[in-house]
Amino acid sequence: MGNTCTKARSEDGKTISDPGQLGANSDINSDENELMLKTTSNYEDTVDDHGQANPNRNADENIEENELTSMLKCMHHRIDQLIDVKELMHREMMKGLSKDTHNTADVKMYPTYVRATPDGTESGDFLALDIGGTNLRVLYVHISDKVVKQIAETRHEIKDLKKVTGIQLFDYVAERLAEFMEKNGLKEKTLPLGFTFSFPYVQKGLTSATLTAWSKDFEVSGVEGEDVYVLLQEAIKRRGDISVNVLAVINDTTGTLMSCAFEHHDCVAGLILGTGTNACYIEKLENVDIWDGDTLPPQQIIINTEWGAFGDRDADGNGGVLEHLITEYDDEINRSTVNDGKHIFEKMTSGMYLGEIVRLILVKLTKAGVIFNGNITDDLETKWIFKTKYISYIEEDTSVNNEACKSIFKKFGLEIKDEDCEKVKTVCSAVSSRAAKLLSAGIAAIVCQVGRKEVICGVDGSLYKYHPNIKTIMAETTKLLAPFMTVQYVESSDGSGRGAAIVAAVAQRLKK
Ligand code: BGC
Repeated sequence: MGNTCTKARSEDGKTISDPGQLGANSDINSDENELMLKTTSNYEDTVDDHGQANPNRNADENIEENELTSMLKCMHHRIDQLIDVKELMHREMMKGLSKDTHNTADVKMYPTYVRATPDGTESGDFLALDIGGTNLRVLYVHISDKVVKQIAETRHEIKDLKKVTGIQLFDYVAERLAEFMEKNGLKEKTLPLGFTFSFPYVQKGLTSATLTAWSKDFEVSGVEGEDVYVLLQEAIKRRGDISVNVLAVINDTTGTLMSCAFEHHDCVAGLILGTGTNACYIEKLENVDIWDGDTLPPQQIIINTEWGAFGDRDADGNGGVLEHLITEYDDEINRSTVNDGKHIFEKMTSGMYLGEIVRLILVKLTKAGVIFNGNITDDLETKWIFKTKYISYIEEDTSVNNEACKSIFKKFGLEIKDEDCEKVKTVCSAVSSRAAKLLSAGIAAIVCQVGRKEVICGVDGSLYKYHPNIKTIMAETTKLLAPFMTVQYVESSDGSGRGAAIVAAVAQRLKK
């Protein structure tokens, strides 16, 4: 099964280059590559190639900078460590695809039952429901002549619905859907609907999705182990005032791939980097040992990797495969979440968590007297107060007087100086670039498995879209980790909303 992506490990635990994939000539451990992998941030200004403080700085600054750089060292991974992550990811992917090892695999590789990509002949009016980590959206779209036109959309924050019951959640969803149909004059119609539900689940068909575990700090009761397609249908039935034809339940990564494939027929992978993270790709059926559906053409299927769970600890809390890279901040994040020890990779890389990682580092630096004159405020000590979007604002702020940074900390009761802003920026970029590099290792494992020379990967998610450097770091790191492949990241417009309608449209076309 699979190809030769996973490199052999030598007995001393070091990796041995696989000439087929990484190439004997790709000097992956060279200093040059290490340098290239460093961020474009001011991290480089403060350290030399070996993470030592820059001797050109004055002595006082160096004492603090040393503390700063040594505290951030755990965030900076060498290329050989990233290659290792890529291999571990690939190994878990292979375990996920195989019947014998699926149960113990971190990366579950769920078959989505989406086998065909759009061919451009799809047409009609569709509804889409999108439940992600932050919002519930309802969309009405029209598809014809290879164009997807959004006619209407509503968006509702669902942060207050994370701890309700399943019935309450799905009643809320059905109510918003009914309202939307009423408002858009659709109440008398029965339209086809695509349902994007962006949590881990096992599918037995396009219209079956049994939730395995909540992620993104949701803990809605009575849904784990249940089929969310059924829960949605039941909620609609309880109302009795609307009728829809749910044609597919899909993950947001699948929506992103399909939405991208609508314009780029060669798109083979989908990536989400928003509140959570995940990736999917098109796999040959012959490689999917766990597949027990039909083997009619096209002999391919979209696999939802659910890579957020990569590195998960076992039920007794014993460490997983990423334990060597887990920092005290990641541990703290785990302890503060409802799924301690689970969705480890997601917690190191996605929008829900990066802000909190930065805050934890800043608190430690403040307590050590390295920043903010050692002044800590109650706000700064408040969990989750530092949003990931602040990382983007701070990193993209090039103003001489660091306006963005100062105004963010003003909210936390701190008047901070320019030199503090520089240090905060260094922390932000260390955290965001670690995420970008780990994600690139994941994508490198996927493109390696796909085995094509050129791979298009559709991407969606606010962190990817709005962070100023993540795109560039990912493009550069992917190139280093998959040097014989050309990976093109293409931003997909509204993968989870539009994508659901497109999957429904493809399903409808295939039914005709
Ligand atoms: C979920 C995935 C989802 C990802 C991005 C993760 O927490 O497990 O299903 O695709 O978030 O939304």
